[in-house]
Amino acid sequence: MTRLVILISGRGSNMEALFHAVDAGALPVEFAAVISNRTSAAGLATAAARGITTAVFDHTAFPDRAAFDTALMAEIDRYAPDLVVLAGFMRVLTDAFVTHYAGRLINIHPALLPAFPGLHTHERALAAGVKLHGCTVHFVTPEVDVGPIVIQAAVPVLDDDTPETLAARVLAQEHQIYPQAIRWFAEGRLQITPTGGVRLQPNRPSALASCVVPALD
Ligand code: GRF
Repeated sequence: MTRLVILISGRGSNMEALFHAVDAGALPVEFAAVISNRTSAAGLATAAARGITTAVFDHTAFPDRAAFDTALMAEIDRYAPDLVVLAGFMRVLTDAFVTHYAGRLINIHPALLPAFPGLHTHERALAAGVKLHGCTVHFVTPEVDVGPIVIQAAVPVLDDDTPETLAARVLAQEHQIYPQAIRWFAEGRLQITPTGGVRLQPNRPSALASCVVPALD
């Protein structure tokens, strides 16, 4: 079973969407641990209530970014995850961290990348007057919000939208596409191409299943 370590900083609604997908039988993964860089992250209690191991690594207790990332890597690796899931983890990661988890570190960003990388995406989308906005799941590479794109969802921007109403519309889509992307990863179907894209491999029935002899009745 694909083992996930989830990194959060706050509310953790994307993490919860993964829980719901597992409960619905739509996501074949197990949750090894949930780690937050903030003690105040509401998602910690949600994960703990589910019986998942939680940990807090407070970045302010470390002298610099490299020291924090080194300690965080050591903690994550204790759980031997197949995939590290950034779910609202509000930290820029060092190149060393990203390289260590190359191909097994995934993020969700609340915009249609490459449009609006970085923060305050909904405000910036409204200011730019775009008619479509959305969210992106991508593998993480050293440059922030630039890695290979797995899946995106678009939503309309309405004339009377505020950053809050637009964020809510986008978030509903985030909760759809993150479980989908991670399911594809768990099925071994995501292939990062040499040009930095992601190809979705067809979902073939396993060789074992095709060898099953039908029961006689
Ligand atoms: C989401 O909008 C996500 O795209 C962004 O941070 C927010 C986290 O929300 N990276 P939640 O903690 O998952 O509710």
